[in-house]
Amino acid sequence: ALTYSRPSGALTFKPIPPNRLDTFVVPNGYDHSVVIRWGDEVVPGAPDFDLDNQTAAAQSKQFGYNNDFLAVLPLDKHGERALLVVNHEYTNENLMFPGFTTLDALSVEQLKVAIAAHGLSVVELERAGRTGEWVPVRKGSRRYNRRLTALATKFDFTGPAAGSAWLKTAADPRGTTAIGTLNNCAGGVTPWGTTLHGEENFNQYFVGGDGAPAADKPKLARYGISTTVRYTADSRKWDRADERFDLTKHPNEANRFGWIVELDPFDPDSRPRKHTALGRFKHEGANVIVAKSGHVVAYMGDDERFDYLYKFVSDKKFMKGNSWVARKHNLTLLESGTLYVAKLDYTSAAEIDGTGKLPTDGAFNGTGRWIKLVQGNKSYVDGMTAADVLTFTRLAGDAVGATKMDRPEDVEPSLLTGKVYVALTNNTNRGVGTNPKADEANPRNANKHGHILELVEDKGENAAETFTWSVPIVCGDPTDASTYFAGYDKTKVSPISCPDNVAFDGAGNLWISTDGNALGSNDGLFATAIEGPERGHLKQFLTVPFGAETCGPFITTDNRSVFVAVQHPGEITGASVENPASTWPDGDYAKPGVVVTWRLDGKSVGS
Ligand code: FEO
Ligand code: CA
Ligand code: CA
Ligand code: CA
Repeated sequence: ALTYSRPSGALTFKPIPPNRLDTFVVPNGYDHSVVIRWGDEVVPGAPDFDLDNQTAAAQSKQFGYNNDFLAVLPLDKHGERALLVVNHEYTNENLMFPGFTTLDALSVEQLKVAIAAHGLSVVELERAGRTGEWVPVRKGSRRYNRRLTALATKFDFTGPAAGSAWLKTAADPRGTTAIGTLNNCAGGVTPWGTTLHGEENFNQYFVGGDGAPAADKPKLARYGISTTVRYTADSRKWDRADERFDLTKHPNEANRFGWIVELDPFDPDSRPRKHTALGRFKHEGANVIVAKSGHVVAYMGDDERFDYLYKFVSDKKFMKGNSWVARKHNLTLLESGTLYVAKLDYTSAAEIDGTGKLPTDGAFNGTGRWIKLVQGNKSYVDGMTAADVLTFTRLAGDAVGATKMDRPEDVEPSLLTGKVYVALTNNTNRGVGTNPKADEANPRNANKHGHILELVEDKGENAAETFTWSVPIVCGDPTDASTYFAGYDKTKVSPISCPDNVAFDGAGNLWISTDGNALGSNDGLFATAIEGPERGHLKQFLTVPFGAETCGPFITTDNRSVFVAVQHPGEITGASVENPASTWPDGDYAKPGVVVTWRLDGKSVGS
């Protein structure tokens, strides 16, 4: 039998120093292993990975590329089995195909490999031994194992914009069913055991915006799709494999991406859904909490410089328990509700000079309001229908004067306190030229290192329409005067740059992973208390190999394992399969993979 240790809450691990090693580094007293990597079997019977002869059919059964969000969901009562659910955000074709020169030179089959390497994976895991180590189940039916791809998997639309004119295409004249999910970045686990997956930078997959109808062009442009040239430097050239990615021919196809996807990994035959009630933007992810009122609240960020923070409040209330009736009911909660965008008000904006200097009241803080954009089928934005608001949510946010943030990435409530934490990864354009200048919620011009925002809903009610907020952490090198760690002694904290994903352990500590460390060291995972005297005492827990971003992160419900996704190892200009910048994890060429870290003595991680 397993002994579950309740975490004391104190983070006692010895922080690891910043480094540029091409290895995965954990603190003393911890170990780690690669759980699954690009090309490994997911669907039983998948062909062995063959780097030189990879096919779309094989990739459709194998673990996809560039793992990002992950969740580990218990599958039995004994803590011996779990489901790993993973996002595959995007592909690095130069690191996937030997002899790569340009996207134009790839075969159509290779383009389809890349399309199939996008999407989601579900993998059955089993505990290895008595510690927090986990491995994939390699025998038996593995009936939950599943690949969902951008190539072939069907997704149903729900909510007020489902079936609207904006979603109709030649292939789907009813506007109800999309093929594939794209650029799944962060995500979340719902209280009813499903997973949510953001569709983020979908713009790069579409070409031909220059030939789209004139009336559509401003909308395409607001979502980062060029309306003046057919291809941009970011174009993935997928139109060569499937003409639906050509907006000159199929201008509405892009409207079918940029949503929040809900997957029920416990029902392997279920069709995943794209919930239009949660709006359409460059969704980083979504995290749900049950409010005191019983409604469920999803917090979301639009990861673009000067874009917005959102929340959704369900019409219906959460039903407790694991009964079939409760489960069926809860699966409908994200189909109807109210969508809000955040407006942050400042107490002392005049004092903000853009250098990160604390205001004279000693804190970056203020009050805020959730501005209602749409409730059910009723729009609250002049000149826009509910379907307009939900499909072109950025335009609605612009119209109501929402607060322009420094790239809101993961937005996640602590299930212990209900307080919400926002990773604002960076915004080097803040205060540059005619762009908005630093304000109290985004307190630094040319913000290279990002910051963390804490949002506290009024009366502790997550469905409230007003809140207070503060900035507990302004990231960077602690010796830099513009950094701030909740007032904690800065000589004792680890340097951190570009916070991206956040997670909580069972004691309520905040874990933060980074993407694009502008201090020059590898990306990693950090942890800090957010309540009590240790608030702001941030310590580095692990680093990922060279060129990689740290994604995931996920602390298992028994607090004995920390999972992270190592995304795009070796991603630097000029790298290739033959000339890799990273040889992680197998010593030959770079492969993205999921890693589990555990304490050698099997006790709670972090403590
Ligand atoms: Fe895919 Fe916003 O990071
Ligand atoms: Ca991210
Ligand atoms: Ca998260
Ligand atoms: Ca990122």
